[in-house]
Amino acid sequence: MRAEHPKLEAGLAALGIDVRSGTSLSELTSLGIGGTTDLLRITKHDSIPDLIELLEHHNIPYKFLGGGSNLLVGDGELPWVILQLAKPDPEIVLEGNFAHVDAAADLGRTVTFCAKHDLGGMEGLIGVPGTVGGALRMNAGAYGMQIGSYVREVKLYRAAERKIEILKGNQISFEYRHTSFGPDDMMLAVTLELPSKPFKEILQGIRICNEKRRSSQPLGQKSAGCIFKNPPGASAGRMIDELGLKGLSVGDAKVSDRHANFFVNAGQASAKDMLALISDVRGRVENAFGVKLENEVVVWNA
Ligand code: EPU
Repeated sequence: MRAEHPKLEAGLAALGIDVRSGTSLSELTSLGIGGTTDLLRITKHDSIPDLIELLEHHNIPYKFLGGGSNLLVGDGELPWVILQLAKPDPEIVLEGNFAHVDAAADLGRTVTFCAKHDLGGMEGLIGVPGTVGGALRMNAGAYGMQIGSYVREVKLYRAAERKIEILKGNQISFEYRHTSFGPDDMMLAVTLELPSKPFKEILQGIRICNEKRRSSQPLGQKSAGCIFKNPPGASAGRMIDELGLKGLSVGDAKVSDRHANFFVNAGQASAKDMLALISDVRGRVENAFGVKLENEVVVWNA
């Protein structure tokens, strides 16, 4: 999809939108898969309601992209433009035990920055790729913690209201890999309240989590993290492994040899390959265990 109409281009320029024509989503996703479209980078949160109105006026469908680390995007020319927040400077402002963080901030860097200022709690998230906004939207978690536990306030674009709003932490429900945000809501900034902890202690926790992750997950390969959510009381990875499916592939889309709930792009995998692999594995698990695995990865397929 191209944002090419002269009036649209003038409107985008007036809103300070940085247009990157013909961007390949394979370069913006950790899976390295995805077709081409125009990328619209937002430099000012306040421009979002007008931007949405402008795009709708010109009948241009759109999607919001975070860090692209939990996302499988379709192949070819994509039927929507992509909206993404540019990173502000600074990305994080600390105030006592509160960290005010822009949604575009990198999650790992946020954890480290807070740690250096003796603010802990998020050690488990250190190796989770992506942005703070993406982690917030899906309530990312690992090693017994989840980001939602620390959220005190969220600034977001509320698609249903067509405006920017502030929600208090207790107005949002955070569950396992799920939140009460609407599907088209766009995370803009968050205030986290983090427990005070000496840097050295936090660093030790971070090292332990890093070690656990390195020993069980295919970190150097292109993946979207876990493909499926764990069903209640069970592990999707263990079930897939028990069926002997590590190494199973469709084209260059492959079930990781290291962790069976990670599907990797071992070369030039297409979205079609990856979707076929997901569907095959889901079918086999359902036949064997009677459990229909639910995607954790978000799929944007044309
Ligand atoms: N297991 C296997 N074979 C495998 C993978 C796992 O037998 O190929 C076994 C492990 O030995 C272990 C159990 O299954 O006994 C659970 O495995 P693991 O500790 O790796 O945890 P997981 O349930 O597979 C979850 C999250 C991860 C998170 C880790 C650590 C989900 C879907 N996955 O994985 O999150 O990093 O715990 O807390 O909730 C993600 O969300 O993308 C993700 C990677």
